[in-house]
Amino acid sequence: MTTRIIGTGRSVPSRKVTNDDLAKIMDTSDEWIYTRTGIHNRHLVETETTTDMAADAAKQAMEKAGVGSEEIELIIVGTVSGDMCYPSTACLVQERIGAVNAVAYDISAGCSGFLFALNAAHAYISSGVYKCALVLGAETLSKMMDWSDRSTCVLFGDGAGAAVVKADATGIKAITQHSDGAGGGVLTCENRASNNPYVKNEITLPYTKMAGQDVFKFAVKMVPRCIQDVVEKAGMSVEDVDYFLLHQANKRIIESVSKRLNVPIEKFPTNIEHYGNTSAASIPILLDELNSAGTFKKGDVIVMSGFGAGLTWGATLLEW
Ligand code: UT7
Repeated sequence: MTTRIIGTGRSVPSRKVTNDDLAKIMDTSDEWIYTRTGIHNRHLVETETTTDMAADAAKQAMEKAGVGSEEIELIIVGTVSGDMCYPSTACLVQERIGAVNAVAYDISAGCSGFLFALNAAHAYISSGVYKCALVLGAETLSKMMDWSDRSTCVLFGDGAGAAVVKADATGIKAITQHSDGAGGGVLTCENRASNNPYVKNEITLPYTKMAGQDVFKFAVKMVPRCIQDVVEKAGMSVEDVDYFLLHQANKRIIESVSKRLNVPIEKFPTNIEHYGNTSAASIPILLDELNSAGTFKKGDVIVMSGFGAGLTWGATLLEW
C-alpha cells in the first residue's frame, strides 16, 4: 500500500505586487529582479492570514478529492510563518475545516516543508497507521522580511497549497530527505529573544537573513543529486520522469538543475513568475495549478523536489 494524491488546492492573497510596484518603494528594478530570478510579481497579504489561506486551500483539495472533513485522520502543515507560535497552524486548520477525527501538527523544514509533510503522511499511510491525510504548505513570509533589505525581500511571496492523500495501490514510489544543520547559517530567522527577569537582551524584531549565493550553490549541487537518488530508488531513470516540480526559488536554479540532469527544461513547469518564492507553499501551489489544468494523465511519473532553510532538501517520486 502506498500514498496517492487525490485532490489539490491553492490560495494566494488578493493583493498582487509587481516588480515595478516594489521599484516605487525601494532601490530595485523589474530588470534586476526578473533577470536574476524569473519573478514578475508576487502576492502579499493585507488582511489574509496563514491560517485563512491554508484553510481555503484545504477546502478546495477536499472538495476535489470528494473527501469529507470527518474522513481526515491526519493534518500536517509545512510552515515557518504560522499565525501563532502555538497552537500549530495544523490545529487551527483542523478547527476551520471541522476535521474532528484528525491529529494535527506542523513541520518546520523551510521551503522543504510541504515535501517533508507529504513524506511523513506517506510513512503513516504506507505503514497502515492512517488511510487519509491532508498535507499543506502555507506561508506568510512577507511578515518575516526586513523590507529595507532589497536583496531578500523582493524574492518572497505569500500563499498556501494543499493535497489530500489516501492509501492506494498507486502513488508514491520513492522518497529521499536530507538535513544539514551545520550549513543552516546561510538562511535564518531568529525567534524572539529571551526576556525573563534574569537576562538582559535588547529586544529587536527578528527578520530573515539570507546569503543568497551560498543558498544558490547549495541548491544547484544537492537538488540534482537527490533527484538522481529518488529516481534510482524507484528503479527508473530521469528519462522516465514526465514532470519535475521543483521548489520555486529562482528560475536560474531550475534551469541549472535541468542542465545538470540533462533533461529538457520543458519538463520543469514553473510559476515563480506569478508568485515569487512562497517557501513551503510553492510546490503544492504549482501542483494544484497543473492538476486543475488537467495536465497530469494517469500513469505520469512526477518528481517533486524541495530545498531550503535547515538546511533541508529532498525529493519524492510518484505515479499519478
Ligand atoms: O527558498 C530558499 C532558497 N533561497 C534561494 O534559493 C535563493 C538563492 N539565491 C538567489 O536566488 C540569488 O543569489 C539572488 C537572487 C538572491 C541574488 O542574485 P545574485 O546574482 O547572487 O546577486 P548578488 O547577491 O550577487 O547581487 C548583485 C548586485 C549587488 O550589487 P553590487 O555589489 O554588485 O554593486 C547587490 O547589491 O545586485 C545588487 N542587488 C540589487 N539590485 C537591485 C541586490 N538586491 C538587489 C535588488 N535590486 N533587489
